[in-house]
Amino acid sequence: MRKKIVAGNWKMNKTVSEAKHLAEAIKNDLAECREVDVVLCPPFIALKTVSEMIEGTHIDLGAQNMHWEKSGAYTGEISAEMLRALYCHYVILGHSERRAYFHETDEVVNKKTKAALAAHLRPIVCVGETLEQREHNETEHVVETQIRNSLAHIGPEQLVDTIIAYEPVWAIGTRHTATPDQAQKVHAFIRKILTQMADEHIAQTIRIQYGGSMKPSNAKDLLGQPDIDGGLIGGASLDPISFVEIVQAS
Ligand code: 13P
Repeated sequence: MRKKIVAGNWKMNKTVSEAKHLAEAIKNDLAECREVDVVLCPPFIALKTVSEMIEGTHIDLGAQNMHWEKSGAYTGEISAEMLRALYCHYVILGHSERRAYFHETDEVVNKKTKAALAAHLRPIVCVGETLEQREHNETEHVVETQIRNSLAHIGPEQLVDTIIAYEPVWAIGTRHTATPDQAQKVHAFIRKILTQMADEHIAQTIRIQYGGSMKPSNAKDLLGQPDIDGGLIGGASLDPISFVEIVQAS
């Protein structure tokens, strides 16, 4: 059985003190949560504070992005080693907002994924189609290309540490959640691709999260699907009550 993993992607929200309050509220309910892997992904500036807040709990820390180089003249960037030094265990890579607004390609996501794994950070690699692509029946082609290219040249023993997040772009921040059936179909397809890339055992081990307007009211149905192994939560993760309810529905 795959352990469910629910991560809060706070995106560009919360000052350090607001982040502290949010982490504290979540910690009050989930500090001892062992049934589900819970990950908080605040903005870079709040990583240290949130890291200190959740020390000694079962909640893990994640970042929202990183650079693939270890160090050097890359103004404004953050390396995997820097994240590890703050006790980060996860990093979101290739989010559709980074792909759309910061022109991240599959090749860039691949470099970052390899660098994260080399530094013992678990990458949460995001894939998903736009509304236009879905309407043109290109969902499988788009998702397959993103998976194969973003995870190229990664050995099976590292692939198992990778988490995939299926986030249909048309469902992000729009209140148009994919139906459980729509999401399950793509998740099962992703697992089929992973079987081809590695083998059945590894494909059955890798966790695939759903992201896109997940909230307490739809979480149970989505998370009840056989190939949906958790959620990557945006808007609803900024409200501790909603986030905790989603974790409890997992
Ligand atoms: P929303 O939950 O706000 O739709 O965002 C999903 C997301 O992009 C998580 O990474």
